[in-house]
Amino acid sequence: MASSPLTIYSLFPKSSLQLLTLFTTVLLSPAIAASTNQFKLDGKVLELNDSNFDAAISSFDYVFVDFYAPWCGHCKRLAPELDKAAPVLAELKPPIVVAKVDADKYRKLGSKHDVDGYPTLKVFIHGVPTEYFGPRKADLLVQFLKKFVAPDVAFLNSDSAIRDFIKAAGTNFPIFIGFGLNESSISDIAVKHKKKAWFSVAKDFSEDIMSLYDFDKVPALVAIHPAYKEQSIFYGPFEEKFVEDYVKQSLIPLILPINQDSLKLLRDDERKVVLTILEDEVDEKSKELIKVLKSAASANHDLVFGYVGVKQWEDFTESFEVYKKTPLPKMVVWDGDEEYYTVIGSESMDETNMGNQVSKFLEGYREGSVVQKNLHGPTLAGFIKSQSGVRLVLILIFVVLVMVLIMTMAKEEPLTVGTRDHAAGETSSIPQPETREARRDAVKED
Ligand SMILES: *[C@@H]1O[C@H](CO)[C@@H](O)[C@H](O)[C@H]1NC(C)=O
Ligand SMILES: *[C@@H]1O[C@H](CO)[C@@H](O)[C@H](O)[C@H]1NC(C)=O
Repeated sequence: MASSPLTIYSLFPKSSLQLLTLFTTVLLSPAIAASTNQFKLDGKVLELNDSNFDAAISSFDYVFVDFYAPWCGHCKRLAPELDKAAPVLAELKPPIVVAKVDADKYRKLGSKHDVDGYPTLKVFIHGVPTEYFGPRKADLLVQFLKKFVAPDVAFLNSDSAIRDFIKAAGTNFPIFIGFGLNESSISDIAVKHKKKAWFSVAKDFSEDIMSLYDFDKVPALVAIHPAYKEQSIFYGPFEEKFVEDYVKQSLIPLILPINQDSLKLLRDDERKVVLTILEDEVDEKSKELIKVLKSAASANHDLVFGYVGVKQWEDFTESFEVYKKTPLPKMVVWDGDEEYYTVIGSESMDETNMGNQVSKFLEGYREGSVVQKNLHGPTLAGFIKSQSGVRLVLILIFVVLVMVLIMTMAKEEPLTVGTRDHAAGETSSIPQPETREARRDAVKED
């Protein structure tokens, strides 16, 4: 848990912030540093500051940046790992440069890049930042970052190539393998979802591989979720629209434990969430039910299935009116935003024939035999999809314009324009810091 400084802000629509950053850069930077390459690619971690940050980012296609503070414990532990990873990443083709910024000293630079905790880690790909939430041990970090520079689609020509590919891919991303599939069927989709999954096509493979990945004819597109020990198969039709639907739906495993990390996956998914609230995610009873839910999920691809234990995340379950005396498990359909539905007659489950009860719940939902409710109290949940991108951009642009005006009048630079804090001050729906802390603590308890 400690390794993942996720805050509410990461649920903020990134594009608006990028737009804002771009906007402020264009408007406010006196001059963007010349792009003559003053940086050596020697496998050392670059130490950047106010005067050379922009130049470094524009000099390299891939830059991993650690915004740290000298006094922060996690940062101190991370530093030697970055020293170890940097020479390996510098050798990749194309190379990934590792850099660090003392964001406590260079605060303006930090706030320009939305640093709201230490360390904040970002990958700049062609100048565009993506927040990094991956592992922090040198070897795992290298494995994670390799995704960004890997070919869009890998060609696997033997069983051993397939095995090596899976092994090298690790458990950070879903893996798609098109067995006997022409790469042209997935190449566009692979480019589109490159940051979220591995894509490959395999030409020659044995029957062992077919039984291992559980398909009996080709072409077959297999989606594997190493982290969730899950896989699924798609036999076509291999027209772009269908392949893309399958890929999009398979970026998320069939059934997902709900926590702050998995909420990030849900953020990008349009489907409604069949949410099962349990006493405790990891007890034996729950495991049985999760199996039942998984098979329901494979027959209902238009819905995402998730589960959460009261013991694991009580604050979150309270949003669905689960309190001490609420009979559990409770199932609802959540829109990923502010609304959810209970199904009349299927409000809770007992332990007899859970398969039937899940089917009955889904039938009831599809027939519209539901009661619509609003999430109870302010929750993390509400922030996933409730931010309307357009509205936010307008507000942010307005804030920037006001700032520019003030700056022109004041002739000084006392303002950290374009930070999330400013934006947060302007949008009432962003939670207060105390709430965030409380929520983070709630998650840490497990
Ligand atoms: C930033 O770092 C460079 C290279 O180490 C140094 O020459 C420069 O003076 C530094 N600038 C600031 C503002 O600290
Ligand atoms: C893959 O499809 C493209 C375009 O549809 C075609 O030109 C190419 O020959 C195919 N490749 C193979 C190996 O079948």
